[in-house]
Amino acid sequence: MAEHFDVVVIGSGPAGYVCAIRAAQLGMNVALVEKRETLGGTCLNVGCIPSKAMLESSHHYHRAAHGLGAHGVKVKGVELDLPTMLGRKDSVVKQLTGGIGMLMKKNKVTVKNAWGSVKSAGVVALDNGEELQAKNIVIAAGSVPVELPFAKFDHKVVVDSTDALAFDKVPQHLVVIGAGVIGLEMGSVWQRLGAKVTVVDIADRPVAIMDADLGIEAKKLFEKQGLEFVLGAKVQAISATGDVSIETADGKKLELKGDKVLVAVGRRAATQGMGLAEAGIKLTERGVIEIDAHYQTNIPGIYAIGDCVPGPMLAHKGEEEGVAVAEYLAGQKGHVNYDAIPWVVYTHPEIAGAGMTEAEAVAKFGEVKVGKFKFVANGRALAVDEGQGFVKVIAHKDTDELLGVHMIGHNVSEMIAEAAVLLEFKASAEDLARCVHAHPTMSEAFKEAGLAVHGRAIHS
Ligand code: NAI
Repeated sequence: MAEHFDVVVIGSGPAGYVCAIRAAQLGMNVALVEKRETLGGTCLNVGCIPSKAMLESSHHYHRAAHGLGAHGVKVKGVELDLPTMLGRKDSVVKQLTGGIGMLMKKNKVTVKNAWGSVKSAGVVALDNGEELQAKNIVIAAGSVPVELPFAKFDHKVVVDSTDALAFDKVPQHLVVIGAGVIGLEMGSVWQRLGAKVTVVDIADRPVAIMDADLGIEAKKLFEKQGLEFVLGAKVQAISATGDVSIETADGKKLELKGDKVLVAVGRRAATQGMGLAEAGIKLTERGVIEIDAHYQTNIPGIYAIGDCVPGPMLAHKGEEEGVAVAEYLAGQKGHVNYDAIPWVVYTHPEIAGAGMTEAEAVAKFGEVKVGKFKFVANGRALAVDEGQGFVKVIAHKDTDELLGVHMIGHNVSEMIAEAAVLLEFKASAEDLARCVHAHPTMSEAFKEAGLAVHGRAIHS
């Protein structure tokens, strides 16, 4: 006898498990289908969380080895214990994925540890032979790394981001294809631990999707740390032994020899093997599931959220969609403001943005007002030895409404939350400039950038 549910969610990443919890909170009987043994999807198992654990540990190692002398702290004999570092990362993942399991129990969500496919509207088939009847199905199947057509992942030399979280020794030369979020984060980890790291990108600056000033500054700062960049370059071939053939921006040939080649050129929606075509579910030209404003696919009763639908592939975007779709299913009004989604790259310094880039704002409004404030003029930043980077605020020329905020600096992953709130509430640069910010904090640089929009920053 098939079990009946109000909602069956396929995929337990941040979009799926959050949707399951919210739907349960709203009184629905929910099943969550997940093939992986642990819940939490890419983000918790092999993405956001383990990479942040490795970024933190590698930062401590690097700082202990090279960064404490100026503080009058002498450290001798700093050694890397990679197995312990990897083990700590694994235990953080275990704790968090276990926590999601507890949340499912607490919310009385039925977890099905199986591969689910959509048989038709109202029916999810599991690979253990079970069938689940569902009033509504929510597909939250996530995404997988994009493979270069001429360099398939062998997971030994040509590796993806999951492999790069668990190298059993520090590579001598890690060649990273893609200077995006994953390339910079994982490149930073292994460079701090002693690898030579070369990052190759077709674009002319790192994190090209973010505000141009961030990429330009990031390149300067990361080069100082020892990362090498080959930009505006086309990768032509990667051999099984790690030889990377590149055509540089000026048309020259360049050969790099890496013992590991990390391909981080983006991710694609995980839409295969789930019966989507058979069920008649339409994909967009870009290969993600087509949805309407309420996350419903072209088939009534089947919804999709997270990385497998349009929009940025970010855990927090998926979480918000998970909440919104559950609320729609309960007859409420869901809400996700796609104009106020923060982006963060967790390098050191961190890079963050929310709202329009300057180029997007100029394209939309013509002229805009820009205020910038450098952390080198911020007392707290200097006291903690983090005077690099800046905050940039973009405001509407006439209304002064904030259009975008972009920052590169220590811990800006936390500061960008203020920007998202200001954008959500449609604040002006003047509002920001008049809000009291505690002294001494690095957030004063944000306020000063707001003041700088009107040419009245105090400390520059
Ligand atoms: P990405 O989209 O951030 O960067 C890919 C880079 O590869 C781009 O700079 C692009 O110009 C370059 N590229 C594409 N094709 C190329 C080629 N053939 N040769 C050379 N360069 C090429 O993608 P990434 O870093 O793989 O991350 C995938 C997704 O995962 C991102 O969309 C991001 O949203 C998400 N993610 C988010 C994180 C965060 O929020 N901190 C951390 C890790 C991933």
